[in-house]
Amino acid sequence: MNVCSAKTYTDCQQSDAGKNVLSALLESLADESRLVALSALFEPEGDYPHAPHCYSRNILLRTDSGAEIMVARWDQGASTPIHGHPQFAFVYVLQGQLQMEHYRETDQGLVLTETVIKRKGQHSYAAGIAKRFDNAIHRVTALAPSLSLHVYSDDALKGKSFL
Ligand SMILES: [Fe+2]
Repeated sequence: MNVCSAKTYTDCQQSDAGKNVLSALLESLADESRLVALSALFEPEGDYPHAPHCYSRNILLRTDSGAEIMVARWDQGASTPIHGHPQFAFVYVLQGQLQMEHYRETDQGLVLTETVIKRKGQHSYAAGIAKRFDNAIHRVTALAPSLSLHVYSDDALKGKSFL
C-alpha cells in the first residue's frame, strides 16, 4: 500500500454524448440505481494520465455549487489517505479492482468496520449529511491497475482527511 497525494487535472475533453451522460449523472446523485445504470453507459474518452505509485484525478465536470465528476486512474498499490466525503459520493469501477476500507469515528478514534473489494461494473454509494465533509469515512487502495468513475455532491478535496 502506497498512500499518496494525487495530482488533479481539469483539462479533460468530452464528446457531446459523453457530456449528456455526465449531466444525467449529476442530476441523479440521490438515486443509486440510476447512477449505476448511467455509469454503464459512460465511455472513458480521456487520456487520463498514469501516475506511478499513485493515482491521477481527472475532473470531467464541475458545477458552480461544487458538485463534480471525475475519473481516477490508479497504479497498482496506490492508496488514498483515510478521508470523508460530502453528502453524496458514488464510485463505479470501470477497470481493475479497488479495495475499500470503511471506518467509523468513535471517541477512541477511527474503527475499521468493513473491507470490501469492488471489481469492474461494481460500485460504492454513500448518502450522508448535507454540508458535512466527514461522511462515509474510508480509504481506497488499488489492488490492480484501475480506472474508476466518481460523482460527488461537492468538491471531494473538501473531504475531511484523517492523516
Ligand atoms: Fe473517497
